[in-house]
Amino acid sequence: MKHLLKLEDWTTEEIMHCLNLADQLKYEQKHGIEHKHLKGKTLGMIFEKSSTRTRVSFEVGMTQLGGYPLFLSSNDLQIGRGEPVQDTARVLSRFIDAIMIRTFEQSEVEALAEYGSIPIINGLTDYCHPCQVLADLMTIREFKGKLEGLKMCFIGDGNNMMNSLIVGALRTGMSFSAACPEGYMPPEHILEFGKSFGDKFEIVTDPKEAAKNADVVLTDVWASMGQEEEKKIREAAFEGYQVNEELMTVTNEGCMVLHCLPAHRGEEITADVFEAHADEIFEEAENRLHAQKAVLVECLLDKKEEEITP
Ligand code: CP
Ligand code: NVA
Repeated sequence: MKHLLKLEDWTTEEIMHCLNLADQLKYEQKHGIEHKHLKGKTLGMIFEKSSTRTRVSFEVGMTQLGGYPLFLSSNDLQIGRGEPVQDTARVLSRFIDAIMIRTFEQSEVEALAEYGSIPIINGLTDYCHPCQVLADLMTIREFKGKLEGLKMCFIGDGNNMMNSLIVGALRTGMSFSAACPEGYMPPEHILEFGKSFGDKFEIVTDPKEAAKNADVVLTDVWASMGQEEEKKIREAAFEGYQVNEELMTVTNEGCMVLHCLPAHRGEEITADVFEAHADEIFEEAENRLHAQKAVLVECLLDKKEEEITP
């Protein structure tokens, strides 16, 4: 069974296949070519955190594929009142064809996959955001015509976005550099993953050092969902970790800027840089739709249909 629990689980070939399918589905949607690959299939979408892009793009994407998206807020599900995820997984597996979940703990996503019998797609956890990074890679390839050999740079928090970007960039032949303040680095095993790519991977504390000769710069909020109470401490820690015009002077000519959104202008990115790269950033947002449609097709059509005996 094919899941998307985290990007590490997908090989380079699987990632590239998904990006190619995403390009094709985008073309088909733009040209009015029918692509109802998931006719009659139902996607349950569990949200334990807020969302604009993930919810709308999965909901619209599933509809465009001929399927039915079912929005399941944790406020209404029994999971929000303590029903174990192991039981939720086994029950939902009998009603629907796949689950997309946005939650806090990565272990909850892994448990759904372990106990359920349908594909599970990670729509963001504290640990990673694989759907976003597939859309980011799709966007970079769309603007630059390739991924191999380009340099990706991330400025800011060693968070869910950065964890998935490290895997996505290095697996697709890009090099990766980042600047994070001390104490806000990614987890050790992600650093080990990066180090296994030798000099294609670098993490420093100086933003300008990281951004030197970059082809694409990314950043993300200083305080992620669930970290609101630490906002003041984080604002102090991340001071200077901003994508601004000064930082962009050391990047390669034509360097892109991407942001998963929502963006906090004046914090991790200036309004000027954001607006100068708005075409790239909003194409990136749109590509959530196309990349996730590809993920849905890859996961749901990969499911081996069990033989049904009367
Ligand atoms: N980038 C992203 O995942 O946006 P939402 O939180 O709005 O889904
Ligand atoms: N790091 C952010 C990403 C939002 C899409 C968060 O987890 O809130």
